[in-house]
Amino acid sequence: MQEIVLVPAQETHYTIMNTLPLIAIQNVTYTYPAEGKKTRSITSPALDGVSLNIAQGEYIALLGHNGSGKSTLARHCNALLLPESGHVLIDGLDTLDNSLHQRIRDKVGMIFQNPDNQIIATVVEDDVAWALRVRGIPLPLLRERVEDAMTAVGIETLRRFPPHKLSGGQRQRLAIAGVLALRPQCIIADEATSMLDPLSRQDIVSLLHHLHQQYNLTVIHVTHLLEEAVLAQRIVVMEQGHIVMDGTPSTIFANLEQLRALKLALPEPLVLAERLRTIGFPISRHALTIETIAQEITH
Ligand SMILES: Nc1ncnc2c1ncn2[C@@H]1O[C@H](COP(=O)(O)OP(=O)(O)O)[C@@H](O)[C@H]1O
Ligand SMILES: [Mg+2]
Repeated sequence: MQEIVLVPAQETHYTIMNTLPLIAIQNVTYTYPAEGKKTRSITSPALDGVSLNIAQGEYIALLGHNGSGKSTLARHCNALLLPESGHVLIDGLDTLDNSLHQRIRDKVGMIFQNPDNQIIATVVEDDVAWALRVRGIPLPLLRERVEDAMTAVGIETLRRFPPHKLSGGQRQRLAIAGVLALRPQCIIADEATSMLDPLSRQDIVSLLHHLHQQYNLTVIHVTHLLEEAVLAQRIVVMEQGHIVMDGTPSTIFANLEQLRALKLALPEPLVLAERLRTIGFPISRHALTIETIAQEITH
């Protein structure tokens, strides 16, 4: 098994060398325990026979409306939840083996909705160092990793700041740096933008794409917003604990009716493109942004 280090993508041939999926979800079913001892109601599974392979270096948007099972699936990818049946293998390591959890969590880092739940220390650089300290990483190596992680997310000038003085977007960057310091192969952002204003939201989405391109990091971007998925390499859509769509953005967005039926709000550029088609402009299905639509009209 090969460790990936945080180096620019062009310096690694990892994707070519590794044929094993980084994440293999094999026929996983999971049901949350019913609340209250007297409850006899049968809860339906949050994941119902889900299978999904994710390759090293993929950028996946995991979509679905509220309650479709996205977070439950995400939590299976770093052993926060364990399958009731089926298996989840991370770089070949089975999450059902408790002794592997630390290694699995070093490989797959998670970012959640509220950065404040992930911030522990009172100074930015100490917070980035936190998980490394807990793991007893020697100081020179720790310093190097903290420096690299702060630079990767662009918060190096804020190193002496107390996190509560940072904006929501900067705090989310800090949470991402804390995860990157562990040099994971994959980062899962579970609705990591949903508490932010639109500009900071865009900023975090751009950062995820930057980390993917620059470091060949596998990204699973969990969101209920289709507009955040436009630039993903692959979109996986969930509904009632099942994967119901899996494909490239242009194939997924070619099926607007199904997306509507799945209660996903269509991004404005797609609604515009659809209207333009109905009045005779032959806008291609590959035009997913205002810029590409404008190009198609003017050419
Ligand atoms: N901690 C929990 N206890 C009980 N049921 C839960 C819990 N978390 C989620 N669920 C249920 O599991 C299903 C999937 O939820 P979740 O994975 O959080 O969906 P999503 O992230 O797509 O909104 C929903 O029906 C939800 O109500
Ligand atoms: Mg969720």
